[in-house]
Amino acid sequence: MKILAFETSCDETSSAVLNDENVVSNIIMSQLSHLEWGGVVPEIASREHLKNIVLVMNEALKKANSKLNEIELIAAAKEPGLVGALLIGFSFAKSLAISLEVPFVPVNHIQAHLYSSFIQNEKPSFPFLSLIVSGGHTLLVYVEDYFKHKIVGTTVDDAAGEAFDKVAKLLNLGYPGGPIIDRLAKTGNKDFHKFPLANVKNQPYNFSFSGIKTSVLYFLRKLNFEENKNDKLISDICASFQEAVTESLLRKTLAAAKKYNVKTITISGGVAANSLLKVKFENLISKGYKIYIPSTDYITDNGAMIGYLAYLKYKYYSDKSYFIYESLKEAVNPRLVNI
Ligand code: KG4
Ligand code: ZN
Repeated sequence: MKILAFETSCDETSSAVLNDENVVSNIIMSQLSHLEWGGVVPEIASREHLKNIVLVMNEALKKANSKLNEIELIAAAKEPGLVGALLIGFSFAKSLAISLEVPFVPVNHIQAHLYSSFIQNEKPSFPFLSLIVSGGHTLLVYVEDYFKHKIVGTTVDDAAGEAFDKVAKLLNLGYPGGPIIDRLAKTGNKDFHKFPLANVKNQPYNFSFSGIKTSVLYFLRKLNFEENKNDKLISDICASFQEAVTESLLRKTLAAAKKYNVKTITISGGVAANSLLKVKFENLISKGYKIYIPSTDYITDNGAMIGYLAYLKYKYYSDKSYFIYESLKEAVNPRLVNI
């Protein structure tokens, strides 16, 4: 079955073509218009999606050597995300499904991250624990089987990626902050300063990242950062901050894995691209854990993960007629996190 998928939940316009579960093309256009604002501006994101969605789709079709009339299933991100941004991809995809008379599969973006480590990879066996760390969400999910998920931990304030982005902003490094901090941290000293771990009192599997961000802010004030800054100081702060965030993610994930008695862990979402986080999790392999991380193309937001989850949903849901009639009545749901 040829699948055409769309992802427009934030600032990436992406479209992918899949042949069942195999990704044939995955085109991602990252919007650069937000750079000068130091963060995503929702209205700009919507306009950019509107401008680029046809270009991106045509590129995905061309790379897959496919024509629109060969497509047998359409998928789009439905939630969560920026309402205007979601609406562009979702409405466009719905209209295409109606005109091509093919099933339409709405997809939860976070759930798509969860299954992204399955794409073009050896698949983890159930049950496993999934750490999902993106710009807007931080979740620990116990996955018993396909579509049998239990959220066991989340953030009580900022998401992990949000903390990277906000700290990068405090350091005037640009947006998105994660990849920049990751790069600068490589030459820094992680023991330069101990930032607090993301603990929440009496909630061992929940995270709080706003404390780390505030602690960076106070530390910069104490250092009189603007007057004293230099490359070495910046890399040392990046390395120390990155150490605190990744250590928190690792420790809580391990605590939850022990509680649920699983030795298989997947990590996904933009922050899973972090080089130190990957190393910390890969180090668990020698302790008997099986670790699954998506390939680079499927870590940050992408259409392939939307298409892949659509394939799974269509395959596992017994009532296929839902995707022909009822799914066309669905609306975007910008704040829905429940997966
Ligand atoms: O999953 P994603 O592409 O979009 C959302 O669903 O939010 O994640 C984007 C987030 C941003 O906060 C970005 O700074 C972070 O992922 N990120 C990273 C790295 N690459 C992207 N954080 C840490 N290290 C990285 N290498
Ligand atoms: Zn995402």
